[in-house]
Amino acid sequence: MGKTQLMKKILITGGAGFIGSRLALNLLSNGYEVTVLDNLSSQIHGNAPETESPLYRSIENKVVFIRGSVTDYNVFRDAAMDQDVVVHFAAETGTGQSMYEIKKYMDVNVGGTANLLDILVKEKHSVKKVIVASSRAIYGEGKYFCSEHENVFPASRNDSDLLQGDFECKCPYCQGKISLLPTSEDSLIHPSSIYGITKQTQEEMLFVVCKSIMIPVVAFRYQNVYGPGQSLTNPYTGILSIFSSLLMNEKEINIFEDGQESRDFVYIDDVVEATISGIIDHRADNEAFNVGTGIPTTVLQVVNVLAESLGVKAKIKISGNFRNGDIRHNYADLKKIGSKLNYLPGIPFQTGIREFVKWAGTQKFDCSNYTDSLIEMKKLGLFK
Ligand SMILES: NC(=O)c1ccc[n+]([C@@H]2O[C@H](COP(=O)([O-])OP(=O)(O)OC[C@H]3O[C@@H](n4cnc5c(N)ncnc54)[C@H](O)[C@@H]3O)[C@@H](O)[C@H]2O)c1
Repeated sequence: MGKTQLMKKILITGGAGFIGSRLALNLLSNGYEVTVLDNLSSQIHGNAPETESPLYRSIENKVVFIRGSVTDYNVFRDAAMDQDVVVHFAAETGTGQSMYEIKKYMDVNVGGTANLLDILVKEKHSVKKVIVASSRAIYGEGKYFCSEHENVFPASRNDSDLLQGDFECKCPYCQGKISLLPTSEDSLIHPSSIYGITKQTQEEMLFVVCKSIMIPVVAFRYQNVYGPGQSLTNPYTGILSIFSSLLMNEKEINIFEDGQESRDFVYIDDVVEATISGIIDHRADNEAFNVGTGIPTTVLQVVNVLAESLGVKAKIKISGNFRNGDIRHNYADLKKIGSKLNYLPGIPFQTGIREFVKWAGTQKFDCSNYTDSLIEMKKLGLFK
C-alpha cells in the first residue's frame, strides 16, 4: 500500500555527511545503487578527509563517489542525469555561523538548490522524485498557547530581554506568559537565522518549480539529529558533540541562557527510516513532514545524561550568555508523519546517547575550534 514503482538509483548530495552517509549505507544494504556528490567540506571532514574523515571512509568504495560542489552546475548535472531520486542534503549547516557567513550560506544552500532546479527543468534526465532536508529552524520559535490569544507564534527574542536574563518567549500580542506546544507543519514559518531562511527557501523553490514539471518533492523538517557519526569537530552544530568533547577533556561547560532552553533530539536511525519512507511511499509526495521525537529535552538534561553515560562529573557554568539566531524551545508535532507514513520514533534519548557515547569514545576529540567559534561570534557582536 502506498509504495511507488521501484526507484533504484539514488543520488545523495552531501552524502558523505552525518545523515547522508548513514542513509547511503542503509540504502545500499537494501539493494539501491547510491551515488554521492559531496565536496568533503573541511569544516565537517577535516583537512585530509581521505584519511581522517570516518564518515567519508564509511562510504568510500561502497557508493559511486563524486567529489564536487552542488554550486558547480556541470558537476551536479552529470551526477544527477541518470538518477531516479535526488536526495538533496548538501548544505552549510551552522545556525550561528550563518549569521555572519551570509553569502556563503545563500550560495551553497540556495544556489545549490537553484542549480538542481535548473538541471531538472532544462536537462534531459531520469529524476522522478526529490527529497530535501529542511529543518525545524524554519519555524523559528515555533508554536505556543496564550490564554487570551490561543495559538501564537512569537518572534525572535530581543537582546534587551535576553541581556536581563529574561529568556522565555512572550505572546506577540499581549506580551503575556505563554506555554509551549508541539510545532505542527502548518505553523507560522518565520526563521530567526539565515540558516533557517535558506532551508525555508530551499523548500519553497523545490515545491514551486517541481510542481510545474510534475516531479514530486518531499521535504523533511528534521529536528536536532544525533547519534554515531555526527561531527565532533564542527563547532557550529550539535551540542552533544561539543558537550562530550568538553566533558571528556574535563573542561567546564558554558551553559548558555539558564540551561532550560530545549530541543527535540532525534536519533539518526529514526531519521534515516523516515527519509526512506519518503523515497518509497507516494503518500509522502508533495508534502512537508516534521521528523523528531515529539519530546523536548533541556540543555541541562542533555549535560546530565551525557555525563552519566560517560561516567564523568560535569563541571558547568550557567552563564546567561546567548547567541543571536538561537531559539528558546522547539519540539515536533508528529501527527502528520505518524498518520501518513506510520512514522514512530523508536530510540529513546538515554538509549541513543549510550550509542553516541560508545561511538564517540573511539574518535578523536578537539574542542579548540568550538572556543574559536565563540571568540569569532563575540568579536562580531553575535555572542553576548
Ligand atoms: N543534523 C541535524 O540535526 C539536521 C537538522 C535539520 C536539518 N538538517 C539538514 O540535513 C542535511 C544533512 O545534515 P547533516 O547533519 O548530515 O550535515 P553534515 O554537515 O554532516 O553533512 C553535510 C554534507 O554536505 C557536504 N557539503 C557541504 N557543502 C557542500 C557543497 N557545496 N557541495 C557538496 N557537498 C557539500 C559536506 O561536506 C557534508 O558531507 C543538511 O541539509 C542539514 O541542513 C540537519
